Amino acid sequence: MSQYHQSVLLQEAIKFLNVKPQHLYIDATIGGGGHTRQILRRGGKVLGIDSDPESIAHLNKKFKIENLKLKIGEDLILAQGNFNRIADIARSHGFSKVSGILFDLGVSSHQLETAQRGFSFQKEGPLDMRMDKNSNIRAFDLVNNLEKRRLNEIFEKYAGEKLSWSIASAICSARKIKPIETTDGLAHIIKEVYRRKHLRTKLHPATKAFQALRIVVNSELLNLEEALPQTVNLLEKQGRLVVISFHSLEDSIVKRFFKYEKRLKVLTKTPIGPGSGEILHNPRSRSARLRAAVKI
Ligand SMILES: C[S@@+](CC[C@H](N)C(=O)[O-])C[C@H]1O[C@@H](n2cnc3c(N)ncnc32)[C@H](O)[C@@H]1O
Repeated sequence: MSQYHQSVLLQEAIKFLNVKPQHLYIDATIGGGGHTRQILRRGGKVLGIDSDPESIAHLNKKFKIENLKLKIGEDLILAQGNFNRIADIARSHGFSKVSGILFDLGVSSHQLETAQRGFSFQKEGPLDMRMDKNSNIRAFDLVNNLEKRRLNEIFEKYAGEKLSWSIASAICSARKIKPIETTDGLAHIIKEVYRRKHLRTKLHPATKAFQALRIVVNSELLNLEEALPQTVNLLEKQGRLVVISFHSLEDSIVKRFFKYEKRLKVLTKTPIGPGSGEILHNPRSRSARLRAAVKI
């Protein structure tokens, strides 16, 4: 386990990847490198991609210190980039035919827990939420500039937020007085909407709205829709595609793709979730769903 991120469905993902020594694998969301480490341990060679430069910098240091025998650049190649360009990234690093590709979607614990990254409503930070700091749009820009109708649509469509219209209205009223600059400022506005409506939730009231903003800031669904079709040509016959998703919108994109892509045979009739032990140990794993397929 790494402090940077606690990997989810680790054994299950590695089992479905069916790792063989000297074969090539792409970890399209390398994050803290937990899944990649298991592939390397089994003798696989990995191209690890992440859109977050902090992840790549962290791994460059970590893998060198952890295992001096590991030949970074031979057994492991690290590439900063968006997986919506997975085919180009893979080819430019000599990974044009691989035995397995893994996507472990969403954010890492490091991203969530670093207040400055602005992902968490539980920490005071700027309203940012960009996985790649080089991209232009921050949560701040959406929250302070979008029309009420569009904000409502985002909260409803990407998170099923029941109070989407009231939250959008409260945001528009608050920003007339001064821009909403911080995560806790936004969380407070949402909490007040819930309080006024006397609505109680198991999760923090800001959970859904923050999820919706993050999805839009990072074009998460579009990136996945663009990436999946590129993977099939990259896989050799019998190559495995494994995707771990964290909400139903992502999972239905994967499910639909597996269903209609005739060159893939589905290995998971129903998606695999974490056992009660994993949820207890790592509550963030509770919404994880793994789907796997093999190229025929
Ligand atoms: C859940 S973490 C992966 C954790 C990793 N499997 C581990 O065991 O440490 C997801 C990672 O995917 C990255 N990511 C999300 N969307 C991406 C995209 N479109 N392209 C590349 N990386 C992306 C995030 O920056 C984050 O580091």
